[in-house]
Amino acid sequence: MKDPTDMRNTCEPALSRRIFMAAGAASVAGPVLAAGSQNAPAASTAQPASAVEPVTARISFQVNGVARELELDTRVTLLDALREHLRLTGTKKGCDHGQCGACTVMVEGRRINSCLTLAVMHEGDAITTIEGLGTPDRLHPMQAAFVKHDGYQCGYCTPGQICSAVAVLEEIRAGVPSHVTPDLAQVPKLDADELRERMSGNICRCGAYSNIVDAMTEVAGGAA
Ligand code: FES
Ligand code: FES
Repeated sequence: MKDPTDMRNTCEPALSRRIFMAAGAASVAGPVLAAGSQNAPAASTAQPASAVEPVTARISFQVNGVARELELDTRVTLLDALREHLRLTGTKKGCDHGQCGACTVMVEGRRINSCLTLAVMHEGDAITTIEGLGTPDRLHPMQAAFVKHDGYQCGYCTPGQICSAVAVLEEIRAGVPSHVTPDLAQVPKLDADELRERMSGNICRCGAYSNIVDAMTEVAGGAA
């Protein structure tokens, strides 16, 4: 009697790759096609995620000294609120993950990555962007120093660098310690290492770091 497992000498057609593939396709396509037929069970009534109504909220804050009010999806970041809703595109989106500092703005005088915070968390806050620091005719001293010392090349990181630099000098004046200088009272004179450490959250792909430190040093009155 022939061994039923022996496929070598059988007269029956072997299960060819072509037949196997056709059978597989039918088993996949069958249910899919059937779902669209008259006899198919009723489709799920669940809404796709994109059709779900967003939750919105009204937010009021001061941006560069001007009262602004927006109705926003509660998931909108402060960065997108500034750029997409208020058209303040001076603040840049680099990584959108809190890694580059291009989106740095000042909120209540403190620098933050605006890509990492939701707009609705800033009800009543005073927000300063690069547009609020100076104008082309009346540059902020830090903006003027960046120009003077070539503190940029492509300029993409520059709004964030300048906002951060302004806030850094305020932090130093206020005695906020850093990793390099845990106790500011112990250090008679700030140096480039201190400024570099404090600016380390602002990445510059063009590598303008030395010139940025020069600009900050000048604005600090040479104390750094
Ligand atoms: Fe916010 Fe990079 S865009 S840190
Ligand atoms: Fe180009 Fe900083 S000036 S990334």
